[in-house]
Amino acid sequence: MCGIVGYVGLRPALPILVNSLQRLEYRGYDSCGIALCGGHLEVFKDTGRIGDLSSQLTSNGYSMGIGHTRWATHGKPSQANAHPHTDCSGRIAVVHNGVIDNYLELRTQLIREGHTFRSETDSEVIAHLVEKHHEGSLESAVAAALAEVKGSYAIIVVAADCQYMVVARHENPLIIGVGYRENLVASDVPAVLDYTNKVIYLEDGDLATESRNTVKVSSGGKEQKRNCDHIPWSIEEAQKGGYEHFMLKEIHEQPKAITETLRGYLSHVEPQVNLGIEVPAGIDDVLLLACGSSYHATLIGKQVFEALTGMPTRVEMASEFIHASPVLRRTWVIAVTQSGETADTLMAIKKAKMLGGKTLAVTNVVGSSITRIADQCFYTRAGPEISVAATKTFTTQLIALYLLALAWPDVGAKFKSTIVQDLGRLASKVQRLLNDESEIAQQGETLAAFDNVLFVGRGINYPVALEGALKLKEISYIHAEGYAAGELKHGPFALLTPRTPVVAVAALDNTRESFLANIREIKARESPLLAIADERDTEINKYVDCVVRVPGVEPLLTPVINTVALQLLAYFAAWKRGCEIDLPRNLAKSVTVP
Ligand code: F6R
Repeated sequence: MCGIVGYVGLRPALPILVNSLQRLEYRGYDSCGIALCGGHLEVFKDTGRIGDLSSQLTSNGYSMGIGHTRWATHGKPSQANAHPHTDCSGRIAVVHNGVIDNYLELRTQLIREGHTFRSETDSEVIAHLVEKHHEGSLESAVAAALAEVKGSYAIIVVAADCQYMVVARHENPLIIGVGYRENLVASDVPAVLDYTNKVIYLEDGDLATESRNTVKVSSGGKEQKRNCDHIPWSIEEAQKGGYEHFMLKEIHEQPKAITETLRGYLSHVEPQVNLGIEVPAGIDDVLLLACGSSYHATLIGKQVFEALTGMPTRVEMASEFIHASPVLRRTWVIAVTQSGETADTLMAIKKAKMLGGKTLAVTNVVGSSITRIADQCFYTRAGPEISVAATKTFTTQLIALYLLALAWPDVGAKFKSTIVQDLGRLASKVQRLLNDESEIAQQGETLAAFDNVLFVGRGINYPVALEGALKLKEISYIHAEGYAAGELKHGPFALLTPRTPVVAVAALDNTRESFLANIREIKARESPLLAIADERDTEINKYVDCVVRVPGVEPLLTPVINTVALQLLAYFAAWKRGCEIDLPRNLAKSVTVP
């Protein structure tokens, strides 16, 4: 997730912008840049850390400027793709957070009109559009430019000859920091807290001008009054957005992350999915490769692919695939890795390529190693994940796999229509689950008292049970295992006692009857039973001790909603145990050794 900052006042802007950008470093970034403004513009940008960039800068005579930390979404991390972006004359500079859906159309049109582009980014079109409309004030030029833009944005625009900044937001956060004879603007509160704790939260559609002494907000061309809030948080608390841990924050970011992954790909008019990714011609089967949580995502992906496309799909743990003697004929190999740097997955995709497989990478990190190996890439756009345990990167991998299956030629129109519609509603259902987490929190705290927990599911929710167990063990250190519910009687039954709780991931799908039979078998062994169940399930409470209800969705999409519930369960168990949730012992975010 990119971070943007802006300053206008009486003090030298450079050190304030550097410090504010450093306060946003927790969001993760691959490149950064600053534009200083006053009569003319000076732009400094590069890949790497803010500290390295700023150590080369001495331009201290400016009292207005903008800055950016970039998390690549269009175009690799590079100096040219780093923000700020400027227009052809070099007198207008823009920083942008978000995604411009129609940038290709706009870029083609602007090039036809004589504009020259220097980057591969979607964001650069904004600078050129502002230039195109810059006849009167900068404010009206920005409003005219934004009228042409489809997508999401938080932007700051400055012009060499203008003494104010223009800022605007649509579906991306932007706050104004109100100071004494100085004003700031940023993606997030920590960036301004060293200078002021008075903050205006802009709303979608707001456009504001900020000079040293004034802040004027308008929406739809009419001036608006916005409240100025007092922020009581410390910097550390503010970086986590008021959450105690990054993991909880990232769990709560999932509605937004899901929306971003889907952005621009679904058409509801005539249910269609257009990803700009080509299914290689003449393939006979699909092979999914991944490790850890990403492997669990591929186990779900296999079932989604087979249900929607009818294409035989197999899954291999990347760490095992590298030692196997696989046969690949006309196989489409899809490697799934949030970091794009997992050594086992990189080795596996290289091996698959060598064996003649056509390859696609599903990753969250633009420019990561896997993007240089795979033939094609799909980006999950979840934003950086700081907590070691995968949460929003996992659910957005699922979204990516749904999209890839739906984009397949020949998916049945009726089925496709139902799934596309439900996918469009999924983010709000996840939000509803998150809005009422008290029951899950209580159940998680109860689990904290046990040493062993089993998770069970069937069908598409079997891998969800695996993921629930992995989350619990990695952050709470409670021993947990996931099983296909029908497998318990083949061995794991020996573990069932009143001291071994079982978490049952229930679904209203074709596994229902056999799943209820399994639940009864477990109950007979006196294990405490907690079900994660669809809110429309009126029967499950007869068989279990407690139920956490989740919003109902199409059976194929239940893994998303059920996993979010299990992430919360693990989080609250670990919280109760006082674990170091964001940095579990012995684990790393990116496993770059085989
Ligand atoms: C668990 C977790 C890990 C990763 C695994 C693969 O919460 O995060 O199991 O899923 O190390 O990582 P990526 O997806 O980066 O290849």
